[in-house]
Amino acid sequence: MSSLAQALHAALDRRAPLFDQLQQQGTDCYRLFHGSQEGAPGLTLDRYGEQLMVQSFHAVLDQAELLRLWEQVKIFLGLDLRLVYNDRSGGNSRIDRSDPVYQADAAALEDLIGREWGLAYRVRARHAGQDPLLFLDLRNARGWVRQNSTGRSVLNLFAYTCGVGLCAAAGGAGEVLNLDFAEGNLAVGKENGELNPQLPKMQFLQSDYFPAIRQLAGLPITTRRGQKLPSYPRVAQRQFDLVFLDPPAWARSAFGTVDLARDYQSLLKPALLATADDGVLVCCNNLAKVSMDEWRDQVLRCASKIGRPVRDWEQLSPAADFPSNDGRPPLKTLILRL
Ligand SMILES: C[S@@+](CC[C@H](N)C(=O)[O-])C[C@H]1O[C@@H](n2cnc3c(N)ncnc32)[C@H](O)[C@@H]1O
Repeated sequence: MSSLAQALHAALDRRAPLFDQLQQQGTDCYRLFHGSQEGAPGLTLDRYGEQLMVQSFHAVLDQAELLRLWEQVKIFLGLDLRLVYNDRSGGNSRIDRSDPVYQADAAALEDLIGREWGLAYRVRARHAGQDPLLFLDLRNARGWVRQNSTGRSVLNLFAYTCGVGLCAAAGGAGEVLNLDFAEGNLAVGKENGELNPQLPKMQFLQSDYFPAIRQLAGLPITTRRGQKLPSYPRVAQRQFDLVFLDPPAWARSAFGTVDLARDYQSLLKPALLATADDGVLVCCNNLAKVSMDEWRDQVLRCASKIGRPVRDWEQLSPAADFPSNDGRPPLKTLILRL
Protein backbone atom coordinates (compact mmCIF):
# COMPACT_ATOMS: atom_id res chain seq x y z
CA MET A 1 0.00 0.00 0.00
CA SER A 2 1.39 3.46 -0.89
CA SER A 3 1.85 5.97 1.92
CA LEU A 4 -1.05 7.99 0.48
CA ALA A 5 -3.31 4.93 0.47
CA GLN A 6 -2.31 4.27 4.10
CA ALA A 7 -3.04 7.87 5.07
CA LEU A 8 -6.48 7.66 3.41
CA HIS A 9 -7.17 4.34 5.09
CA ALA A 10 -6.38 5.86 8.52
CA ALA A 11 -8.53 8.93 7.76
CA LEU A 12 -11.54 6.82 6.75
CA ASP A 13 -11.13 4.59 9.81
CA ARG A 14 -11.01 7.63 12.10
CA ARG A 15 -14.23 8.91 10.58
CA ALA A 16 -16.22 5.69 11.01
CA PRO A 17 -18.18 6.98 14.07
CA LEU A 18 -18.77 10.30 12.30
CA PHE A 19 -20.13 8.55 9.19
CA ASP A 20 -22.85 6.97 11.36
CA GLN A 21 -23.79 10.33 12.86
CA LEU A 22 -23.85 11.98 9.43
CA GLN A 23 -26.16 9.34 8.06
CA GLN A 24 -28.56 9.86 10.96
CA GLN A 25 -28.38 13.64 10.42
CA GLY A 26 -29.35 13.31 6.78
CA THR A 27 -25.92 14.49 5.59
CA ASP A 28 -24.12 13.05 2.57
CA CYS A 29 -21.74 15.97 1.94
CA TYR A 30 -18.56 15.86 4.03
CA ARG A 31 -14.78 15.72 3.91
CA LEU A 32 -13.26 12.27 3.58
CA PHE A 33 -9.62 13.30 3.66
CA HIS A 34 -8.16 16.57 4.93
CA GLY A 35 -4.62 16.25 3.61
CA SER A 36 -3.01 19.15 5.49
CA GLN A 37 -3.72 17.39 8.79
CA GLU A 38 -3.81 13.78 7.67
CA GLY A 39 -0.53 13.18 5.90
CA ALA A 40 -0.79 14.71 2.41
CA PRO A 41 -0.74 18.53 2.46
CA GLY A 42 -2.54 20.06 -0.49
CA LEU A 43 -4.89 17.14 -1.15
CA THR A 44 -8.58 16.91 -0.23
CA LEU A 45 -11.25 14.30 -0.88
CA ASP A 46 -14.85 15.36 -0.39
CA ARG A 47 -18.11 13.56 -0.83
CA TYR A 48 -20.94 15.62 -2.29
CA GLY A 49 -23.89 13.22 -2.50
CA GLU A 50 -23.14 10.81 -5.33
CA GLN A 51 -19.95 12.61 -6.21
CA LEU A 52 -16.38 12.15 -5.03
CA MET A 53 -14.46 15.36 -5.51
CA VAL A 54 -10.69 15.07 -5.33
CA GLN A 55 -8.74 18.32 -5.35
CA SER A 56 -4.99 18.90 -5.39
CA PHE A 57 -3.61 22.31 -4.48
CA HIS A 58 0.18 21.78 -4.44
CA ALA A 59 1.05 19.09 -7.00
CA VAL A 60 -0.78 17.20 -9.75
CA LEU A 61 -1.89 13.68 -8.78
CA ASP A 62 -0.69 10.73 -10.77
CA GLN A 63 -3.58 9.07 -12.64
CA ALA A 64 -2.95 5.58 -11.25
CA GLU A 65 -2.84 7.00 -7.70
CA LEU A 66 -6.07 8.95 -8.29
CA LEU A 67 -7.90 5.85 -9.55
CA ARG A 68 -6.63 3.83 -6.57
CA LEU A 69 -7.93 6.48 -4.12
CA TRP A 70 -11.32 6.40 -5.87
CA GLU A 71 -11.48 2.60 -5.58
CA GLN A 72 -10.48 2.73 -1.91
CA VAL A 73 -13.25 5.21 -1.06
CA LYS A 74 -15.88 3.26 -3.03
CA ILE A 75 -14.97 0.04 -1.21
CA PHE A 76 -14.86 1.68 2.23
CA LEU A 77 -18.22 3.45 1.86
CA GLY A 78 -19.82 0.69 -0.22
CA LEU A 79 -20.97 3.36 -2.68
CA ASP A 80 -20.43 3.80 -6.40
CA LEU A 81 -19.43 7.48 -6.28
CA ARG A 82 -18.79 9.49 -9.49
CA LEU A 83 -15.27 10.90 -9.62
CA VAL A 84 -14.34 14.48 -10.43
CA TYR A 85 -10.72 15.55 -10.14
CA ASN A 86 -9.97 19.26 -9.91
CA ASP A 87 -6.30 20.07 -10.09
CA ARG A 88 -5.80 23.51 -8.59
CA SER A 89 -2.02 23.40 -8.28
CA GLY A 90 0.50 25.52 -10.16
CA GLY A 91 -1.20 27.99 -12.45
CA ASN A 92 -4.55 26.22 -12.07
CA SER A 93 -5.81 27.96 -8.97
CA ARG A 94 -9.20 28.26 -10.64
CA ILE A 95 -9.41 24.58 -11.78
CA ASP A 96 -7.69 23.06 -14.78
CA ARG A 97 -10.38 22.26 -17.35
CA SER A 98 -8.10 20.50 -19.82
CA ASP A 99 -8.15 17.42 -17.55
CA PRO A 100 -4.83 15.85 -18.60
CA VAL A 101 -4.96 13.42 -15.66
CA TYR A 102 -8.56 12.26 -15.62
CA GLN A 103 -11.59 13.26 -17.69
CA ALA A 104 -14.73 12.95 -15.56
CA ASP A 105 -17.74 11.45 -17.35
CA ALA A 106 -20.69 13.61 -18.20
CA ALA A 107 -22.80 12.08 -15.41
CA ALA A 108 -20.25 13.21 -12.78
CA LEU A 109 -20.28 16.78 -14.11
CA GLU A 110 -24.07 17.06 -14.21
CA ASP A 111 -25.93 19.13 -11.65
CA LEU A 112 -26.49 16.82 -8.69
CA ILE A 113 -28.16 17.06 -5.31
CA GLY A 114 -26.32 16.73 -2.01
CA ARG A 115 -27.86 16.61 1.47
CA GLU A 116 -26.91 18.21 4.74
CA TRP A 117 -28.98 18.29 7.94
CA GLY A 118 -31.79 16.74 5.87
CA LEU A 119 -31.84 19.64 3.37
CA ALA A 120 -31.14 19.39 -0.34
CA TYR A 121 -28.36 21.43 -1.96
CA ARG A 122 -27.32 21.99 -5.55
CA VAL A 123 -23.98 20.32 -6.20
CA ARG A 124 -21.98 21.27 -9.29
CA ALA A 125 -18.41 20.04 -9.68
CA ARG A 126 -17.37 22.72 -12.16
CA HIS A 127 -18.62 26.27 -12.30
CA ALA A 128 -17.26 29.76 -12.81
CA GLY A 129 -16.21 30.20 -9.18
CA GLN A 130 -13.30 28.64 -7.39
CA ASP A 131 -15.06 26.55 -4.78
CA PRO A 132 -17.72 23.86 -4.67
CA LEU A 133 -21.16 25.30 -4.02
CA LEU A 134 -21.24 24.34 -0.34
CA PHE A 135 -18.42 25.00 2.12
CA LEU A 136 -18.29 21.80 4.13
CA ASP A 137 -16.42 23.13 7.17
CA LEU A 138 -19.37 25.42 7.98
CA ARG A 139 -21.73 22.45 8.56
CA ASN A 140 -21.71 22.71 12.38
CA ALA A 141 -22.44 26.44 12.20
CA ARG A 142 -25.34 25.81 9.79
CA GLY A 143 -26.61 23.16 12.21
CA TRP A 144 -26.42 25.69 15.06
CA VAL A 145 -28.44 28.18 13.02
CA ARG A 146 -31.06 25.55 12.32
CA GLN A 147 -31.38 24.85 16.05
CA ASN A 148 -31.55 28.52 17.03
CA SER A 149 -33.70 30.32 14.49
CA THR A 150 -37.24 29.68 15.65
CA GLY A 151 -39.31 32.82 15.32
CA ARG A 152 -36.26 34.97 14.65
CA SER A 153 -35.59 37.41 11.82
CA VAL A 154 -32.32 36.27 10.24
CA LEU A 155 -29.82 38.23 8.14
CA ASN A 156 -27.30 36.09 6.23
CA LEU A 157 -24.36 38.27 5.15
CA PHE A 158 -21.94 37.18 2.37
CA ALA A 159 -24.61 34.54 1.79
CA TYR A 160 -22.89 32.75 -1.14
CA THR A 161 -25.33 29.91 -2.01
CA CYS A 162 -27.49 30.68 1.04
CA GLY A 163 -26.87 27.50 3.07
CA VAL A 164 -27.10 29.46 6.32
CA GLY A 165 -30.35 31.06 5.17
CA LEU A 166 -31.77 27.67 4.23
CA CYS A 167 -30.96 26.32 7.70
CA ALA A 168 -32.61 29.34 9.30
CA ALA A 169 -35.75 28.75 7.20
CA ALA A 170 -35.69 25.07 8.19
CA GLY A 171 -35.30 26.09 11.83
CA GLY A 172 -38.54 28.10 11.76
CA ALA A 173 -37.17 31.63 11.29
CA GLY A 174 -39.87 34.27 10.94
CA GLU A 175 -37.99 35.82 8.03
CA VAL A 176 -34.68 35.21 6.22
CA LEU A 177 -32.75 37.75 4.16
CA ASN A 178 -29.68 36.58 2.19
CA LEU A 179 -27.26 39.27 1.06
CA ASP A 180 -24.47 38.88 -1.49
CA PHE A 181 -23.20 40.93 -4.42
CA ALA A 182 -22.80 37.97 -6.79
CA GLU A 183 -25.89 37.30 -8.89
CA GLY A 184 -24.69 33.77 -9.78
CA ASN A 185 -24.22 32.78 -6.13
CA LEU A 186 -27.67 34.08 -5.17
CA ALA A 187 -29.12 32.24 -8.19
CA VAL A 188 -27.83 28.98 -6.69
CA GLY A 189 -29.26 30.12 -3.34
CA LYS A 190 -32.66 30.53 -5.01
CA GLU A 191 -32.29 27.10 -6.58
CA ASN A 192 -31.47 25.70 -3.12
CA GLY A 193 -34.69 27.27 -1.87
CA GLU A 194 -36.62 25.59 -4.71
CA LEU A 195 -35.00 22.23 -3.94
CA ASN A 196 -36.63 22.44 -0.49
CA PRO A 197 -40.22 23.42 -1.33
CA GLN A 198 -41.43 22.50 2.17
CA LEU A 199 -39.59 25.54 3.61
CA PRO A 200 -40.94 29.08 3.83
CA LYS A 201 -39.61 31.36 1.10
CA MET A 202 -36.39 33.28 1.73
CA GLN A 203 -35.60 36.82 0.58
CA PHE A 204 -32.54 37.82 -1.42
CA LEU A 205 -30.73 41.13 -1.67
CA GLN A 206 -28.11 41.51 -4.36
CA SER A 207 -25.88 44.26 -3.08
CA ASP A 208 -22.37 45.09 -2.05
CA TYR A 209 -21.96 44.46 1.67
CA PHE A 210 -20.78 47.93 2.65
CA PRO A 211 -23.67 50.13 1.44
CA ALA A 212 -26.28 47.54 2.45
CA ILE A 213 -25.03 46.91 5.99
CA ARG A 214 -24.32 50.58 6.62
CA GLN A 215 -27.89 51.51 5.61
CA LEU A 216 -29.31 48.75 7.83
CA ALA A 217 -27.09 49.97 10.68
CA GLY A 218 -28.08 53.62 10.16
CA LEU A 219 -24.51 54.67 9.29
CA PRO A 220 -23.58 57.07 6.49
CA ILE A 221 -22.17 55.62 3.26
CA THR A 222 -18.70 56.99 2.87
CA THR A 223 -17.00 57.73 -0.43
CA ARG A 224 -13.34 57.08 -1.04
CA ARG A 225 -11.41 60.31 -1.60
CA GLY A 226 -14.50 62.00 -2.97
CA GLN A 227 -14.93 59.40 -5.77
CA LYS A 228 -18.44 58.94 -7.15
CA LEU A 229 -19.92 55.63 -5.99
CA PRO A 230 -21.73 53.17 -8.27
CA SER A 231 -25.46 52.92 -7.63
CA TYR A 232 -26.66 50.55 -4.94
CA PRO A 233 -30.05 49.29 -3.73
CA ARG A 234 -31.69 51.40 -1.02
CA VAL A 235 -32.73 49.64 2.15
CA ALA A 236 -34.32 51.01 5.29
CA GLN A 237 -32.52 51.05 8.63
CA ARG A 238 -33.50 48.03 10.72
CA GLN A 239 -32.19 45.29 12.99
CA PHE A 240 -32.39 41.49 12.87
CA ASP A 241 -32.60 38.99 15.73
CA LEU A 242 -29.91 36.75 14.29
CA VAL A 243 -27.14 38.01 12.04
CA PHE A 244 -24.61 35.68 10.41
CA LEU A 245 -21.34 37.23 9.21
CA ASP A 246 -19.05 34.90 7.24
CA PRO A 247 -16.93 37.04 4.91
CA PRO A 248 -14.22 35.91 2.49
CA ALA A 249 -10.60 36.45 3.57
CA TRP A 250 -10.11 39.28 1.09
CA ALA A 251 -12.22 40.99 -1.56
CA ARG A 252 -12.19 44.49 -3.03
CA SER A 253 -15.13 46.39 -4.46
CA ALA A 254 -15.88 50.00 -5.33
CA PHE A 255 -17.29 50.43 -1.83
CA GLY A 256 -14.46 49.09 0.27
CA THR A 257 -12.12 46.22 0.98
CA VAL A 258 -12.95 43.08 2.89
CA ASP A 259 -9.67 42.29 4.64
CA LEU A 260 -9.91 39.89 7.53
CA ALA A 261 -6.21 40.18 8.38
CA ARG A 262 -6.06 43.95 8.67
CA ASP A 263 -9.56 45.21 9.29
CA TYR A 264 -12.23 42.87 10.67
CA GLN A 265 -13.74 45.80 12.58
CA SER A 266 -15.13 47.61 9.56
CA LEU A 267 -17.16 44.50 8.76
CA LEU A 268 -18.10 43.76 12.34
CA LYS A 269 -19.16 47.19 13.54
CA PRO A 270 -22.15 47.70 11.20
CA ALA A 271 -23.14 44.03 11.63
CA LEU A 272 -23.25 44.56 15.42
CA LEU A 273 -25.39 47.66 14.94
CA ALA A 274 -27.77 45.72 12.69
CA THR A 275 -28.25 43.09 15.41
CA ALA A 276 -31.22 43.63 17.74
CA ASP A 277 -30.92 44.07 21.52
CA ASP A 278 -30.99 40.56 22.97
CA GLY A 279 -30.10 39.33 19.49
CA VAL A 280 -27.27 37.09 18.36
CA LEU A 281 -24.42 37.77 15.97
CA VAL A 282 -22.59 34.73 14.64
CA CYS A 283 -19.29 35.75 13.09
CA CYS A 284 -16.57 33.78 11.34
CA ASN A 285 -12.95 34.20 10.42
CA ASN A 286 -11.36 31.66 8.08
CA LEU A 287 -7.81 33.01 8.11
CA ALA A 288 -5.51 30.26 9.37
CA LYS A 289 -2.85 32.70 10.55
CA VAL A 290 -5.24 34.45 13.01
CA SER A 291 -5.65 32.64 16.33
CA MET A 292 -9.04 32.28 17.97
CA ASP A 293 -7.83 34.01 21.17
CA GLU A 294 -6.43 37.00 19.34
CA TRP A 295 -9.47 37.38 17.07
CA ARG A 296 -12.01 36.88 19.90
CA ASP A 297 -10.32 39.63 21.97
CA GLN A 298 -10.50 41.94 18.96
CA VAL A 299 -14.19 41.16 18.40
CA LEU A 300 -15.16 41.63 22.07
CA ARG A 301 -13.20 44.90 22.29
CA CYS A 302 -14.87 46.24 19.15
CA ALA A 303 -18.34 45.39 20.52
CA SER A 304 -17.68 47.18 23.83
CA LYS A 305 -16.18 50.18 22.06
CA ILE A 306 -19.28 50.81 19.97
CA GLY A 307 -21.63 50.34 22.91
CA ARG A 308 -22.92 46.86 21.98
CA PRO A 309 -21.15 44.80 24.67
CA VAL A 310 -21.38 41.03 24.38
CA ARG A 311 -23.36 39.42 27.25
CA ASP A 312 -21.86 36.03 26.57
CA TRP A 313 -20.09 34.17 23.82
CA GLU A 314 -19.53 30.63 22.63
CA GLN A 315 -17.02 29.13 20.18
CA LEU A 316 -17.93 26.63 17.48
CA SER A 317 -15.45 24.37 15.70
CA PRO A 318 -15.81 22.44 12.48
CA ALA A 319 -16.78 18.77 12.88
CA ALA A 320 -14.36 15.82 12.99
CA ASP A 321 -14.09 15.60 9.19
CA PHE A 322 -11.95 18.77 9.49
CA PRO A 323 -9.43 17.62 12.10
CA SER A 324 -6.86 20.10 13.41
CA ASN A 325 -3.91 18.55 15.19
CA ASP A 326 -2.88 21.80 16.84
CA GLY A 327 -6.44 22.68 17.92
CA ARG A 328 -6.36 25.75 15.66
CA PRO A 329 -8.78 25.13 12.78
CA PRO A 330 -8.61 27.84 10.07
CA LEU A 331 -12.36 28.41 10.31
CA LYS A 332 -13.22 30.06 13.63
CA THR A 333 -16.82 30.81 14.59
CA LEU A 334 -18.02 32.94 17.50
CA ILE A 335 -21.60 33.17 18.71
CA LEU A 336 -22.10 36.53 20.38
CA ARG A 337 -25.19 37.22 22.49
CA LEU A 338 -25.82 40.95 22.76
C1 LIG B 1 -16.44 32.70 1.29
S1 LIG B 1 -18.01 33.04 0.56
C2 LIG B 1 -18.94 33.15 2.04
C3 LIG B 1 -19.44 31.80 2.48
C4 LIG B 1 -20.84 31.82 2.92
N1 LIG B 1 -21.04 32.66 4.08
C5 LIG B 1 -21.43 30.42 3.14
O1 LIG B 1 -22.32 30.29 3.98
O2 LIG B 1 -21.02 29.49 2.48
C6 LIG B 1 -17.79 34.69 0.09
C7 LIG B 1 -19.02 35.36 -0.50
O3 LIG B 1 -18.88 36.74 -0.30
C8 LIG B 1 -19.37 37.42 -1.43
N2 LIG B 1 -18.75 38.76 -1.40
C9 LIG B 1 -17.44 39.09 -1.46
N3 LIG B 1 -17.27 40.43 -1.31
C10 LIG B 1 -18.51 40.96 -1.18
C11 LIG B 1 -19.01 42.27 -0.99
N4 LIG B 1 -18.19 43.33 -0.93
N5 LIG B 1 -20.32 42.45 -0.88
C12 LIG B 1 -21.18 41.41 -0.94
N6 LIG B 1 -20.78 40.13 -1.12
C13 LIG B 1 -19.46 39.90 -1.23
C14 LIG B 1 -18.98 36.54 -2.60
O4 LIG B 1 -19.82 36.78 -3.71
C15 LIG B 1 -19.18 35.15 -1.99
O5 LIG B 1 -20.48 34.66 -2.24
